[in-house]
Amino acid sequence: MSVLYTYLEDLLKQPYALPTVIATVSIAAFITYFQGQKQQKQKTPESNRNDSDTKKGSSESSESAAPKPKAFALPSTPLPPPNWSRSWTSEELSQHDGEDDDKAIYVAIKGTVFDVTAKKAMYGPSGGYHCFAGRDASKALGKSSLKVEDCVADYSDLDEKERKTLDDWYAFFEKRYPIVGKTA
Ligand code: HEM
Repeated sequence: MSVLYTYLEDLLKQPYALPTVIATVSIAAFITYFQGQKQQKQKTPESNRNDSDTKKGSSESSESAAPKPKAFALPSTPLPPPNWSRSWTSEELSQHDGEDDDKAIYVAIKGTVFDVTAKKAMYGPSGGYHCFAGRDASKALGKSSLKVEDCVADYSDLDEKERKTLDDWYAFFEKRYPIVGKTA
């Protein structure tokens, strides 16, 4: 302890030592203070949003207050049995691309038609996966492509890896969406 004291005493005897120490401590305090202010500002919009969410939830039904479903979550209720008796022509299927608000949204994979209306935000007109809606999008799903020209039923030119990707998507949809028929 006395070593430290002697060291500090010697240090302070140096010309400009005291002003240098004061300046350093002031700058450090200044930076710490402004960083604290910045973090506070970043926190505010988040807490405001949470507040408004809570308000919205309490003024609406208890269902709307439920937490947002996680990405890739399985449906909370069991799926209805597949309706294999219904056959959809491509013309009929195209009516279910989400452009008409009154109609369900369908995506077909390997000839199976899935009702994806529950994920309107994704498959509807402003959704990132709208290109798959109202058609059999097998090739695009196999190729991991969002190009409209790839959204076709013919997946014969997919390689082995792409076919596996397509089958994985089929399994994904099968677990999550009601099957409303087959493509004609
Ligand atoms: C940068 C590229 C991509 C990112 C960051 C991304 C991200 C995501 C995320 C976060 C989800 C889950 C969304 C949710 O459930 O709320 C999702 C789902 C999905 N993605 Fe992508 N994606 C990308 C590219 C692609 C591509 C190229 C395809 C083309 C096949 C694709 C097809 C899908 C499909 C079919 C789903 C399932 C949607 C559903 O729940 O029905 N994604 N993606």
